[in-house]
Amino acid sequence: MDWEAFFTVHKDLPREGPGSPDDVAWALDLAALPEGAVICDAGAGAGGDVAALARAGRVLAVDQQDGFVAQMQARFADLPQVTVRKEDMGRIAEFPEAPFDMIWCAGALYFLGLKPGLEVMRGALKPGGVLAFSEPCYFTETPKEKARAFWEDYPTRDRAGIAAAVAAAGFEILGTRDVSEAGWEAYYQPMEARIAELRPEADARLTGMLDLCAQEARDWRAVREETGYHLVVARRLS
Ligand SMILES: C[S@@+](CC[C@H](N)C(=O)[O-])C[C@H]1O[C@@H](n2cnc3c(N)ncnc32)[C@H](O)[C@@H]1O
Repeated sequence: MDWEAFFTVHKDLPREGPGSPDDVAWALDLAALPEGAVICDAGAGAGGDVAALARAGRVLAVDQQDGFVAQMQARFADLPQVTVRKEDMGRIAEFPEAPFDMIWCAGALYFLGLKPGLEVMRGALKPGGVLAFSEPCYFTETPKEKARAFWEDYPTRDRAGIAAAVAAAGFEILGTRDVSEAGWEAYYQPMEARIAELRPEADARLTGMLDLCAQEARDWRAVREETGYHLVVARRLS
């Protein structure tokens, strides 16, 4: 990955993956967190969900990319209940703030793989703590080649397959829903506006990254009926 070109496109975008504040509100409602809850936003990216999470407790927002960490530190400097740190979420159980009342992991758990990711997150939750995550999902039993190609080599499941993995990892599912098309557009439209701004002055290297990012948005629009993100809210069984 050409990170310099990537951050030229992505710098200060509102979010780094599909989703909406409404998804966070829905998940928090299901989670019914205690007063003074401690929440980790794992793989927080630009911090698109942090302000909504901070309405329910103290938030530790972590990402492994320096660029996103710096961006979030500036973005949330005025929110005393938010801490931002560079961390590998694979080591979340070792964070000094663990175990958490809730872990929010939007579009990021799959970087660890669903099964290993569930195990890692479970180990960082209090008994009865809540994990909310969005996961690549096929909405049909027979996704076409284009929908399969969208997730490259990731072993994408359907809704039932995700539910089975969550239950097998020792969670009770509190609720599920698909991330809305508006949630996807909330990610892609600001990115496309940035691409349009940058394109006239872009050198060959940046043009390559602009093309890649623009293609991803077009690809999603072509397959959105067959695949997307499935959002799961699940309670850790003791
Ligand atoms: C698709 S983005 C989603 C960002 C954000 N949750 C959102 O919805 O806007 C996935 C994020 O996970 C981060 N990430 C991937 N693996 C990680 C790891 N092991 N530890 C911390 N962050 C990680 C990436 O750097 C990226 O910012």
